[in-house]
Amino acid sequence: MVVVSRSAYRSIRAKRLGCKKLRQRDVAHPCSYGEVGEADPGPFVTSSREVQSLWSGVSSFSKLRCVSFAKASAPADDVRKIVRTSRSTDAPIPALMERALAAATLAPSINNTQPWIFQAGTQSAQIVLRADYSRRLHEADPETRQLIISCGAALTNLLAELHASGIRTTTAFRRPSGRSPDFALVSLAKAGAGSDRDDLDLADAIPRRFTARSAFGPDPVPVTLLDVMIESASAGGLELSPITLERDAFAALHRRAHRIQERNHALARETAAWTRHDASARDGIVPATFGRDSTVNRDLHLPQRDFAINREIPTAQSRERSGWETLVVLASAGDGPEDWIRVGRELERLLLIAAGRGVMASYLNQCVEVSPLRESLRRTLGLAGVPQLIMRLGFPAGEPGPLSPRRPLREVVRIQEQLPRSIVDVFSISRTKARGEEWVVHVDS
Ligand SMILES: Cc1cc2nc3c(=O)[nH]c(=O)nc-3n(C[C@H](O)[C@H](O)[C@H](O)COP(=O)(O)O)c2cc1C
Repeated sequence: MVVVSRSAYRSIRAKRLGCKKLRQRDVAHPCSYGEVGEADPGPFVTSSREVQSLWSGVSSFSKLRCVSFAKASAPADDVRKIVRTSRSTDAPIPALMERALAAATLAPSINNTQPWIFQAGTQSAQIVLRADYSRRLHEADPETRQLIISCGAALTNLLAELHASGIRTTTAFRRPSGRSPDFALVSLAKAGAGSDRDDLDLADAIPRRFTARSAFGPDPVPVTLLDVMIESASAGGLELSPITLERDAFAALHRRAHRIQERNHALARETAAWTRHDASARDGIVPATFGRDSTVNRDLHLPQRDFAINREIPTAQSRERSGWETLVVLASAGDGPEDWIRVGRELERLLLIAAGRGVMASYLNQCVEVSPLRESLRRTLGLAGVPQLIMRLGFPAGEPGPLSPRRPLREVVRIQEQLPRSIVDVFSISRTKARGEEWVVHVDS
């Protein structure tokens, strides 16, 4: 059995039934893709270009019995579309997986690098998350701290969507490294009971969240929302602190870090390499999302990252003036990969809680990235832990523009019936070796 895209499934089934167009009652799988026996493709290979190209993809993976979800031009290529379809808890596990994987890829990531790979076993009902170190930012993120945070954020989306779909999960974690990039093994089981309100709220906010670098409107972030976010961070073992009294001292430090980064030509080249000026971009930062803080607007009190780098930005963005923004810092107890995964998971949770109330965030991370200033930041803000991310929060002033692009699932997901033992065993080994380290094995629900 292999899993194919919905369009391929429909073509195969239509051919088998000898009809041109498939009637609704002939579709055995109402979900977005179907399952086809391995012997099926033969008769269709010469008569349908769509199926032919799909199956040529399959045969190249045949040893692994692995197939990507969708081909380049299929609608399923657009992960936002997959997540926008209505959720059906009755769908078979592979269909729920597809939706959850699409949701995972909507997570925020440093420079929209989307540094993740998912390996999914449809029959074993397991998903492994792997950090894609080939997408690391050597200048902005030499330790891969923000790469791992991004992967943690993707995990939150994956789990939120699975839980909202009535799936119970157990996740085992291990410390990722360049040599051994797998960091989470998620095992899935149908829960029987429905999903609870919190899961649904989080999952529903996934397609609504975006990084808002534009000016915020006049309404302050509700104190009740901030309280919920602070509590959530604390439950996740982290410290979320609003920056209030220390705002001016922070701004001075921030501008210093911003100037240091502006003089770093290697960093500027790297940032430029991750900005995209063509409409077909699937990753990186696109001009519509640059925001107002570019070199044409350098006098801002709290400058954000300059993605335009001496290029023109849309006039509307360059003319924006600051509205009301709440500043917060997220800090962790330690500063290793375990902490970064935790930060990523909690970051996305906080962003989804906020997005559910219409509040969006963008980042002022310069002080954290310039190592000598990180300790000054900690002291200035009186933090007990290590500062990881600084965010501005607010209600976006205008209508959201185009959203950041995402890579299609076929680029980030590998599907197999069973995950190879070699992968699963790595998690069992670390489980036994690291007994007592609570982060290694974590039970979600
Ligand atoms: C760990 C991390 C660090 C980030 N740092 C910055 C930053 O310093 N400046 C910024 O403008 N955006 C930052 N972002 C936001 C990403 O650029 C954004 O998530 C990505 O472009 C995708 O866009 P989206 O969040 O709208 O989906 C960061 C995101 C993550 C997860």
